[in-house]
Amino acid sequence: MTLLIGIPLELDTGERRVATVPEVVEKLIKLGFMVAVQSSAGAAANFDDDAYRAAGAEVIASASELWACSDIVLKVRAPSSDEVASMREGGMLIGFVWPAQNPELMQQLAAKRATVLAIDSLPRTLSRAQKMDALTSMAGISGYRAVIEAAHAFGRFLNGQVTAAGKVPPAKVFIAGAGVAGLAAIGTAASLGAIVRANDTRAEVADQVKSLGGEFVKVDYDEEGSGGGGYARVMSEGFQQAQRAMYAQQARDADIIITTALIPGKPAPKLITSEMVRTMKPGSVIVDMAAEQGGNCELTVPGEAVVHHGVTIVGYTDLASRLARQSSTLYGNNLLRVVEELCKTKDGTINVDFDDDAIRGLTVIKEGSITWPPPPIRQPAVAPAPQPAAAAAAVAPKKGHGSGEPMSAKSLAIAFGIGALAFLMVGLYAPATFLSHFTVFVLACFVGYMVVWNVTPSLHTPLMSVTNAISSIIVIGALVQVAPPLGEPGMADRPSGLILGLAVGALTLTAVNMFGGFAVTRRMLAMFRK
Ligand code: NAI
Repeated sequence: MTLLIGIPLELDTGERRVATVPEVVEKLIKLGFMVAVQSSAGAAANFDDDAYRAAGAEVIASASELWACSDIVLKVRAPSSDEVASMREGGMLIGFVWPAQNPELMQQLAAKRATVLAIDSLPRTLSRAQKMDALTSMAGISGYRAVIEAAHAFGRFLNGQVTAAGKVPPAKVFIAGAGVAGLAAIGTAASLGAIVRANDTRAEVADQVKSLGGEFVKVDYDEEGSGGGGYARVMSEGFQQAQRAMYAQQARDADIIITTALIPGKPAPKLITSEMVRTMKPGSVIVDMAAEQGGNCELTVPGEAVVHHGVTIVGYTDLASRLARQSSTLYGNNLLRVVEELCKTKDGTINVDFDDDAIRGLTVIKEGSITWPPPPIRQPAVAPAPQPAAAAAAVAPKKGHGSGEPMSAKSLAIAFGIGALAFLMVGLYAPATFLSHFTVFVLACFVGYMVVWNVTPSLHTPLMSVTNAISSIIVIGALVQVAPPLGEPGMADRPSGLILGLAVGALTLTAVNMFGGFAVTRRMLAMFRK
């Protein structure tokens, strides 16, 4: 039976996004689903009903009818209790849910025997899950918009200019917290010509800040701030004191401050005190992206722009929604990837596969049973750096190695013994030509194992494109076949037409693979360069 995907109008005040856009509707239909959209659901994001109709969706006027007929509902914000009441028994919901913050909503959805995939619960460290990572795509847009809001409230150019009417110095922008939103803000401010400085408690982001055109400002205190998985940890009182002194200095110098500092599950650290705001130049701007979690600035009012001591403090909590067309498109694509993972057979049916770590992490309720929080992922994609003492013990069993106990010294010795004996037999009895190929094969396996096995899974995509290119060593074999044998230019030794044809075919295909692989790697690396 073909399932119907429904897209309701978002009801939250000020929410302009929509969970899918016409171009994604076409792709959902290709996956075998039917799509229904509530009338004017995309209007605030500049997608009208006709665009959805043209893409193949049915437009339904009433919200309750849409909720009742949809097998799967795609949403941006968590549903209200009225919306859950209109949902069909045993239906599916995909969108932001925030299960930790919304226990009542979870109970209501469970009572409906619903299956719920919370996009905010995606295991973000899985490199395979990046295409579904709506938190990242929304934070990227918000970081960009934060700079635009700051530029709007700031009374000067961001870039330096020499004009007939006088010389204008570039604006100085300081970014607190260089996570996803912070890095997007750094790139945007730098591309607008500002002088950008940034700070984060995780020293590992310094290179990323530099690659986007910013300068990393270090706190004069030795303490590592990484709490693993790309998130920070709470710092010691000594560090915080040194950080406050540095921020006070930056506040005096900067024209614009954008704060994004946050540790998940914790209130936002207060980094900009009212005293620091007082020392800023009149006309300066602070955009506090952490406003919803209490704010990084003491004077922030969530959802509003206020002025203190001549400084505009912007605390908007809907930055992604302020670029509704862009954020709806990226969000729609993120949800499309989730649906693709659920419907690998491309026949309009759904399989919530708990063996898939990404789907397991996303699923907070399955057929009415609350399955949140998920168990820890078996193999973390970005393993936290092991502590020196724990490093030896941290050689965790990996997929494909079996998940049992590590080998005992005795069984290891036996395995080595058998291996050595097998090599001895090959050495004694195999023909000499085989032996030389075999030696190369064994060495290649060893080198390949050592190189590939130690690569962090998050780097597997660029690694794959490079190794694909390198593995095109096949090209050498094909060249040997095409070229006449060395020193024997006689026609008798020329390969037959069939062999020649196969060799030329292999050359063409592997050339595509080689150059394609390098081109993909180059494009990926270019994303990190300015
Ligand atoms: P993230 O977790 O990727 O980045 C937060 C960064 O802050 C991390 O790099 C962390 O190391 C750093 N940090 C933590 N404590 C710090 C401290 N004491 N000093 C300096 N740096 C510190 O988060 P993401 O996705 O970049 O989001 C940033 C903030 O923006 C969050 O508060 C998020 O909720 C908010 N946000 C706000 C939106 C809005 O419309 N206002 C929209 C999207 C995100």
